Amino acid sequence: MIPIFMLAASFALVHARPGSTLAHHASTFAGATTAAIFPPVGATITAADTFFLGASEVGFPGPTLTGDEPNAIETAPSIAKMDNMYPLVEPTIKGTSGKAFNPLEHVGQLSPWQSVESFGLPKTSPVIPKGCSLQQVHLLHRHGARYPTADSATASFAGKVRDTATSGGFSGSGVLSFLNTWTYKLGAEILTPFGRSQLFNLGVGFRVKYGELLDDLVDLPVFRTTSEARMLDSALHFAAGFFGVQDYQNQYHQLIMIENDGQNNTLSPYDNCDNANNDVFFFGSAQANKWSQIYLAHTLKRLSPLLKGFNLTISDLVAMQQLCAYETVSLGFSEFCGVFTEDEWKGFEYFIDLGFWYGNGPGNPASSAQGIGYVQELVSRLTKTPITTFNSAVNSTIVTNPVLFPLNQSIFVDASHDSVMATIFVAMNFTSLAANGPLPTDHIPRNQTYFVSHIAPFATNLVGQVLSCPAFEEPTHIRWLLNDAALPLTGIKGCKFNLDGLCDLKTFIAGMQQRIEEVDFTFDCFGNYTIPVPDNIVDGQFPKSLRK
Ligand SMILES: *[C@@H]1O[C@H](CO)[C@@H](O)[C@H](O)[C@H]1NC(C)=O
Ligand SMILES: *[C@@H]1O[C@H](CO)[C@@H](O)[C@H](O)[C@H]1NC(C)=O
Ligand SMILES: *[C@@H]1O[C@H](CO)[C@@H](O)[C@H](O)[C@H]1NC(C)=O
Ligand SMILES: *[C@@H]1O[C@H](CO)[C@@H](O)[C@H](O)[C@H]1NC(C)=O
Ligand SMILES: *[C@@H]1O[C@H](CO)[C@@H](O)[C@H](O)[C@H]1NC(C)=O
Ligand SMILES: *[C@@H]1O[C@H](CO)[C@@H](O)[C@H](O)[C@H]1NC(C)=O
Ligand SMILES: *[C@@H]1O[C@H](CO)[C@@H](O)[C@H](O)[C@H]1NC(C)=O
Repeated sequence: MIPIFMLAASFALVHARPGSTLAHHASTFAGATTAAIFPPVGATITAADTFFLGASEVGFPGPTLTGDEPNAIETAPSIAKMDNMYPLVEPTIKGTSGKAFNPLEHVGQLSPWQSVESFGLPKTSPVIPKGCSLQQVHLLHRHGARYPTADSATASFAGKVRDTATSGGFSGSGVLSFLNTWTYKLGAEILTPFGRSQLFNLGVGFRVKYGELLDDLVDLPVFRTTSEARMLDSALHFAAGFFGVQDYQNQYHQLIMIENDGQNNTLSPYDNCDNANNDVFFFGSAQANKWSQIYLAHTLKRLSPLLKGFNLTISDLVAMQQLCAYETVSLGFSEFCGVFTEDEWKGFEYFIDLGFWYGNGPGNPASSAQGIGYVQELVSRLTKTPITTFNSAVNSTIVTNPVLFPLNQSIFVDASHDSVMATIFVAMNFTSLAANGPLPTDHIPRNQTYFVSHIAPFATNLVGQVLSCPAFEEPTHIRWLLNDAALPLTGIKGCKFNLDGLCDLKTFIAGMQQRIEEVDFTFDCFGNYTIPVPDNIVDGQFPKSLRK
């Protein structure tokens, strides 16, 4: 592999390694962007090589007896939890209480998903409750771990390191001495190898838990994703895990819905919602930035002396915290993780929580509008009734075609994004997630429960179990698990408190239909309004009382 150093000037870099240069002065290549190319230029593609025959040409596959579908969600006494991040080297720092603290569990949407302990229903588990049987499952999942987005603060930070290294020069010492020889090895937007494994594992886990539902299908199922590279890659890795690498292309249909400006797509609804792309949306980062000035003020004083010749800012520190997450999920390890203390990580975690709350969560007036299209599709699937009113991100071309949008599957799988899933949770009135808002921007409240690392981490997964209780033919109940923890549905009109998170199916559907009535997509997405001050919104809608 030949590293390509994307630099205008030609420095002698190729053999430089961290540690091989002067310890206290930045090398001229500090901050440079590096990228590899594989396969090697000119390599023969294996498939076209007559030396390497395919499996069907070689033959002799050995016995190939298949077994029965697994159904662990009904037959096992408990489920296996997602509780590790293999093969990442999990950064652990000494916490304030003396206990080990893993920053990667506190980096919001940049955390790899882990099973959540509880969203307020600690007595239940994902296993189908006694006396019920499983009829149908709805899975909505996020893509896996990715590189930073194209416009990321991490790339800007690397640029600043490089500019400083090549102009006046700088010298890092102490916990920042690694910056002297640090280079930026991250690409943009696409899945990382670890991200691919997350989706493959999600697919395997889903087969082990829900495989028996395949017996109810009379045709191949349709799974949906969007056209972005990481979205398709995620969907395919899920399918490869669920069906097997040699079989997946023949065992289901993959619908790829275009994700692009102006498109109607319920899995990327911001593409047809003005207020998801202007100051109404940017309010999230504005609120988060108020908090970063506070939680990082002391950090700036602590770290500035360790970086002589470099004008360290609060934004740089935020980028460095992001780099801990991005480098670890991309490269397996990051020096940036050890730079910050437990309190600084908790500050960063809240920074992300604020950004989501006010940008895509309960506190943003365009959230419910963005999420409501998926709710319309969900109601259509639950009632087996085609959608006829088009007043949201729903794409009529897709949902009126039963080939593209079948209503009678036992398994539904949709892939989407963190920000979108956050809006869908608001549209579905999972109000327990919003119960402790609105969130202050000057301190972390004691009762804070809106943790993005639990709600929208990499490969976050929402599972709707449609059940019949008592076990019988017709479905009678539904419940929703987010990252293996049942969500209380008591915010949905008519749903009574239930220890397992169950709601009567007809009541749930009526609640969703009422949500569809409540949400004014056109006004909330396209209305010319400013966010009220203070922003006390907790239902993701512009307050009707403030409309002119
Ligand atoms: C759904 O039902 C239709 C008509 O009853 C049938 O043709 C189709 O194969 C079914 N699809 C699935 C995935 O079961
Ligand atoms: C609806 O989806 C179809 C199929 O992907 C696409 O060609 C069309 O442009 C979409 N329409 C809108 C308005 O987004
Ligand atoms: C340091 O950066 C800040 C923020 O970008 C800027 O306002 C300030 O002028 C810079 N100071 C120096 C000495 O470059
Ligand atoms: C796209 O969405 C808009 C707004 O809801 C709707 O008026 C239009 O009919 C939709 N177009 C398609 C093709 O779905
Ligand atoms: C959460 O704490 C804040 C103060 O930090 C308080 O104003 C609010 O009422 C509390 N909310 C709940 C639901 O306890
Ligand atoms: C959704 O939650 C809000 C409170 O945030 C409540 O006023 C409304 O009635 C709920 N709607 C439904 C249909 O559950
Ligand atoms: C929105 O309203 C403000 C003031 O009411 C006006 O200045 C602005 O031009 C309007 N923007 C759009 C896009 O209509």
